[in-house]
Amino acid sequence: MTKLSYIFIAKFFFLYGCIDLGDNPPEGLPPNIPYPTTVSFQKDILPIFNNYRCITCHGDNGGLNLSNVNKLKTTGDHKPVVIVGDAEGSILIKKMRGTAGFGTIMPPEGMISEISITKISAWINQGAKDN
Ligand code: HEC
Repeated sequence: MTKLSYIFIAKFFFLYGCIDLGDNPPEGLPPNIPYPTTVSFQKDILPIFNNYRCITCHGDNGGLNLSNVNKLKTTGDHKPVVIVGDAEGSILIKKMRGTAGFGTIMPPEGMISEISITKISAWINQGAKDN
């Protein structure tokens, strides 16, 4: 492959990784301060999983199932993938950061937006409620 095509591919992944899927922080909030509002699984988290097509691979087809809170907490080879109250220690977050130590980064196409990870982390730290 030519040097140019490597640059092209790198650019593609960079751009893809930066696509904002509409899950903006409330009023431009920086991602690393405590999340100010209650995060809802139905209203906030499930749309992120749908936008990034997580459910296509992690639905009712065996293995980890992210389509509802009960299944999310009780399925997967490394279950439970969430430790309630400890987002950074949870495999779900580690997989999206590429630090789980097994398999590939999730989603496999590339990095999810930092604000989406912040929201999912906040949900876990707020008790990973079925809300
Ligand atoms: C194209 C299919 C595909 C998509 C899309 C996908 N995953 Fe995965 N996921 C896999 C496969 C295959 C594995 C097992 C291999 C591995 O760990 O990398 C896996 C493993 C995981 C695991 C570890 C489960 C365990 O118990 O071992 C987590 C957590 C996870 N994915 C979360 C996500 C999240 C969150 C998204 C969306 C942001 C996502 N995945 C999108 C295919 C997918």
